[in-house]
Amino acid sequence: MTYENILVSTEGAVGIVTLNRPKQLNALNDALMDELGAALKAFDADGNIGCMIITGSEKAFAAGADIGAMATYTFSDVYKGDYITRNWELIRTIRKPVIAAVSGFALGGGCELAMMCDFIIASENAKFGQPEIKLGVIPGAGGTQRLPRAVGKAKAMDMALTGRMMDATEAERAGLVSRIVPLEKLMEESLAAALMIAGYSQIAVMAAKESINRAYEGTLSDGVMFERRMFHALFATQDQKEGMAAFVEKRKANFSHQ
Ligand code: HXC
Repeated sequence: MTYENILVSTEGAVGIVTLNRPKQLNALNDALMDELGAALKAFDADGNIGCMIITGSEKAFAAGADIGAMATYTFSDVYKGDYITRNWELIRTIRKPVIAAVSGFALGGGCELAMMCDFIIASENAKFGQPEIKLGVIPGAGGTQRLPRAVGKAKAMDMALTGRMMDATEAERAGLVSRIVPLEKLMEESLAAALMIAGYSQIAVMAAKESINRAYEGTLSDGVMFERRMFHALFATQDQKEGMAAFVEKRKANFSHQ
């Protein structure tokens, strides 16, 4: 597939998608989201890829859904066209880890896209926000659900009701981002994390992602039971035998992803 709104590359076992509409600060239109979904799906299906990174430009991860495109949409357009659900939700079906490497603006749908990823590494200039209220709408790609889970109700209400931005320091303190790195090190650090993940057993990595996601969707006892069964199941893999044997033999594990 040829992409017009994203750049796709690989570094070892890491698939990288760079959002690439620089003149619009990577505003997320349908074409871009279709391409992003296709690229992530292809990486997910590729046995040589163990982790993915989504990133943007220095100035913007993404400044939101494309306001120009949305401005004239009607209810029947968005309802019948299944706007957002049709392509954005595909990201939730990706089973290998996806890291958001964020510098600059991550606003509206841009913040929601980052939150759909498994964790966010932010550069010092990152700014997060849900400014949809200023446009007469509300977050529509999971922001009202994922933001409170990440930062708590008070801050989520503050962000969504005032539309203000949060800088990287506040975002890290609140639990929205996992770490802050200098701008010039964003890709280096994100890639190091992704390569580390890709070096582990893909089965164990996918099981860890699936289990942590359970923490958001059910009760604690159901989540713990799910985790326990996944943990038990991993004893059926060659990677568990290899990982533990390597530790006992004081050598580096060589996972076969079986
Ligand atoms: C379309 C956008 C855009 C957006 C910026 N641009 N954000 N185009 N959709 N979301 C365009 C501008 O129109 C401008 O185009 C160019 O990018 C550069 O932007 P400037 O505003 O000139 O840059 P700057 O002054 O640095 O301000 C940056 C900014 C501002 C603070 C990020 O652009 C801004 O407030 N953007 C909108 C942010 C927002 O409201 N996001 C939420 C969208 S709603 P020209 O042609 O003039 O150069 C949303 C819904 C989510 O995301 C729910 C469903 C997913």
